[in-house]
Amino acid sequence: MKLKLWGYCCERCGHDWMPREQEQEPKVCPKCKSPYWDSPRRTLRDTSTIYKMDHNHLKDLDGLQFNYPFQAIGQSLVLHADSFEWLKKVPRNTIHAIVTDPPYGVKEYEPEQISKRNAGNGGVWRIPPSFDGSTRAPLPRFTALTDKERTLLAAFFREFGELCVGALRPGGHILIASNAFLSQLVFSALVSSGLEFRGQLIRLVRTFRGGDRPKNAEEEFPDVCSLPRSCYEPWGIFRKPLPRGMTISECLRKYETGAFRRPNREQPLADVIPSERTPQIEKAIANHPSIKPQSFMRPVVHSVLPLGKGIIVDPFMGSGSTIAAAQALGLQCVGIERHEEYYQLSKRAIPQLARLAISRDIEIDVTQLSLDL
Ligand SMILES: C[S@@+](CC[C@H](N)C(=O)[O-])C[C@H]1O[C@@H](n2cnc3c(N)ncnc32)[C@H](O)[C@@H]1O
Repeated sequence: MKLKLWGYCCERCGHDWMPREQEQEPKVCPKCKSPYWDSPRRTLRDTSTIYKMDHNHLKDLDGLQFNYPFQAIGQSLVLHADSFEWLKKVPRNTIHAIVTDPPYGVKEYEPEQISKRNAGNGGVWRIPPSFDGSTRAPLPRFTALTDKERTLLAAFFREFGELCVGALRPGGHILIASNAFLSQLVFSALVSSGLEFRGQLIRLVRTFRGGDRPKNAEEEFPDVCSLPRSCYEPWGIFRKPLPRGMTISECLRKYETGAFRRPNREQPLADVIPSERTPQIEKAIANHPSIKPQSFMRPVVHSVLPLGKGIIVDPFMGSGSTIAAAQALGLQCVGIERHEEYYQLSKRAIPQLARLAISRDIEIDVTQLSLDL
């Protein structure tokens, strides 16, 4: 197994280094000693600034902000909006790809449930059992969904799929995070909306779901677990159908979509990506319950634009890890978030997450998506 190490990169002299203290941002660059190591020189400054939409490098996104509060971050855009409302306004055949991690159980990000989570009391959020003495953050408990909630969940993803079919270009891909327990329901609903199911991308990661003994009978059944302990996260791969009779090469020429980008010329994209739980340094930057690691998001975001250009959208961006990955790769992305606190968080977090460097060895390992476990 290759070790993944995170570090910083000085914006002034380009020096890469590993921090001793994981939780705190360094005060100066250890090489050039600049206290401004984390901000580009004024002429290059391109983050956390409100841009007029006629700015050259944002012209492809012109018109997609509608009348929502927004901020440009580099060549990307974050909006404070309900993504269903926003998707309804997007002209047909506009977006090249969607990469997103939706509210799986639909209701866990309702304001009432967020308050219950913050209060540590009730609702769909539960503290997973501790097996090594350390305190766990609450996870949403999807097995608690009733039949009615499962029906609502299916309706939610069907409507979401229909809106995506409208906004995506023909051949545009959706990569959508799910979990082993709910993926069957979510993926069926997306297919019923008119999307093609194209397989799954497996993020190899140990979560804290499953593997528990039957509740309140742990001692009676010590050799039993009610669900397998989850060791992967399935990401559904969907595509807006190509026009009848159109080949992939024609679709690439006409719509710049229809296929994936290889990590490099020699290797095709693999559908298993060895991953990790989100590193502490990223959680310290973005305190969101579902933040995904940059080491996973960057190769995923890289893969969805087959020609390396176009517009990616994350309609449920949370703290903005998808937009940060796009920013790190020099790609254009629009992120939508409905919850005010997370929208504000994304504006601060995206430039910092995008700046996180991974050492050259690791970068090669991740972009090649090698499976040498
Ligand atoms: C699972 S989280 C995504 C976290 C993200 N992957 C990250 O790295 O931070 C889903 C997010 O979608 C937001 N959300 C839920 N419904 C929404 C809607 N209708 N429109 C926009 N955002 C929504 C929630 O507030 C939540 O932050």
